[in-house]
Amino acid sequence: MIGYKRHVFVCLNERDVSHPKGCCKHRGSTAIFAFLKSRVSDLGLKDTVRISQAGCMEHCQYGPTVVVYPEAVWYRIQSLEQAKEIMDKHILGGQVVEHLRMELLEDNPSSEENIDTLKN
Ligand code: FES
Repeated sequence: MIGYKRHVFVCLNERDVSHPKGCCKHRGSTAIFAFLKSRVSDLGLKDTVRISQAGCMEHCQYGPTVVVYPEAVWYRIQSLEQAKEIMDKHILGGQVVEHLRMELLEDNPSSEENIDTLKN
């Protein structure tokens, strides 16, 4: 089979700490990437699920940025618990995890969660 059932891109871009945009790497994306890779390996899914590192996807203020294809769903994953939820529900189960979608932040830029992100 050419391609994967799910292909996940995790932003690992790093910027200087003084950069106003910040970066996903300083928000914990390395641990999220390692967790997802490890789960895929442990579950024996390397032939059907691919976890790839990505550069900046220009949504830095909402990061760590993770995109799951083929559904093209953009997530902001801030903890390993959230990464596990994405793995179990979306990557394995095919169910989009609505409350972690990045679009929610863009649609509601004044939300408390969003403001907190912009401060960091
Ligand atoms: S640094 Fe991750 S989206 Fe820009």
